[in-house]
Amino acid sequence: MSAPKKLFIKTYGCQMNVYDSERMAEALGGQGYTETKSADEADMILLNTCHIREKAAEKVYSELGRFKKLKAQKPDLKIGVAGCVAQAEGQEIMRRQPLVDLVVGPQSYHRLPEMEAKTREGEKVLDTDFPEEDKFEQLKHRPKSKRGPTAFLTVQEGCDKFCAFCVVPYTRGAEVSRPADRILTEARDLVERGVREITLLGQNVNAYHGAGANGDLTLAQLIWELDKVEGLERIRFTTSHPNDMMDDLIEAHGTCKKLMPYLHLPVQAGSDKILKRMNRSHTAESYLRLIERIRAARPDILISGDFIVGFPEETEEDFQATLDLVEEVKYGTAYSFKYSTRPGTPAAERPQVDPVEADDRLQRLQALLTRQQREIQDSMVGREVGVLFEKPGRQAGQMLGKSDYLHAVHVADCNRQAGELARVRIVSSRTNSLAGELIG
Ligand code: 5AD
Ligand code: SF4
Repeated sequence: MSAPKKLFIKTYGCQMNVYDSERMAEALGGQGYTETKSADEADMILLNTCHIREKAAEKVYSELGRFKKLKAQKPDLKIGVAGCVAQAEGQEIMRRQPLVDLVVGPQSYHRLPEMEAKTREGEKVLDTDFPEEDKFEQLKHRPKSKRGPTAFLTVQEGCDKFCAFCVVPYTRGAEVSRPADRILTEARDLVERGVREITLLGQNVNAYHGAGANGDLTLAQLIWELDKVEGLERIRFTTSHPNDMMDDLIEAHGTCKKLMPYLHLPVQAGSDKILKRMNRSHTAESYLRLIERIRAARPDILISGDFIVGFPEETEEDFQATLDLVEEVKYGTAYSFKYSTRPGTPAAERPQVDPVEADDRLQRLQALLTRQQREIQDSMVGREVGVLFEKPGRQAGQMLGKSDYLHAVHVADCNRQAGELARVRIVSSRTNSLAGELIG
């Protein structure tokens, strides 16, 4: 038998890309590939790209340029580009960077094995279709290999919202939900392999409406089905849109013990004028009322958000409305970005804000968000929380894990294993983590 071929995957961007990279590695496992952490020893290099940040495509081209020497030394090395930049750029990638053998969009990953075989015959292959068949069904899991305690599971993909700044509806396509039975089978398989916490993924996860035995299931109904999976201890989901935050999901936050008290619910901006121009179809007020209802169901829930500053035609007054909204919500974590144009999206055509002004707003917003994040983290001191241990820490006997609220927690002199869930009292708060001690 020939020696196994080595696959090096570099993953950029969101958690869905992390999940997709695992699936791609498994699909190519069937072609005799094992993963390596070093590009130098790879027989195939795959860049799983993200298009959400500024100059994403340019960064991919410069990364590809770095493989020139490697390819010259190793003519059999195959180089592929996957993910949202692959979808957006398509053929252009091979035209600009002839060392690329394969370009594959997110909806075609199940076709990777045949694409790889073609590259071995010297062909260049491109697949950025949105095919009819169910790619998840064909991207089977590697049988029974052991896993860490946490895993992602994609339940929904794509987006029909068309926020005026965003490329996702173009790169990931229309919103599609996976059937519930397939998700449950995958979840049980993950649990058998050691997983204790599953994060359900979707660009618009709370719009989930996958087929069940008696009609479509909502995300809350899917969560209740997962709640019955023995051995699964924790459920999370991301990313949600305010408009799809249904009553049953809000209620589940109050009643489902396995559903963790953490919700990523991006608002993007606090000015109704800007929200309208972003095509967000919610107002600052409706978002605030929604947060109120969620907190009524689960008072201790930690809210996380995404923000864009310097969106076209944002005035200082509009920006002030964002700061006001942040003051009112109090975010436990948040991601904030300066608006940058994505060719082909509606906002790219509108009058842009002075970049120096936008930088200044971003700094002011981040200062406020960092302060809130720290205050909420510090408020954990003295409290008792659940911690799922993930790995040993640097010091002997120390274990690292995540609290119910997704804070990193380390516990000294801890006679626990990765995958164990424990009650922990938080004793101190540092810049990016909490220290705790086991209870009992
Ligand atoms: N400019 C800046 N930020 C953006 N995001 C998406 N598109 C853009 C853009 N063109 C941010 C949004 C989104 C997060 C994933 O990235 O806040 O929620
Ligand atoms: Fe993009 Fe999210 Fe808006 Fe969909 S809802 S267009 S993924 S920002």
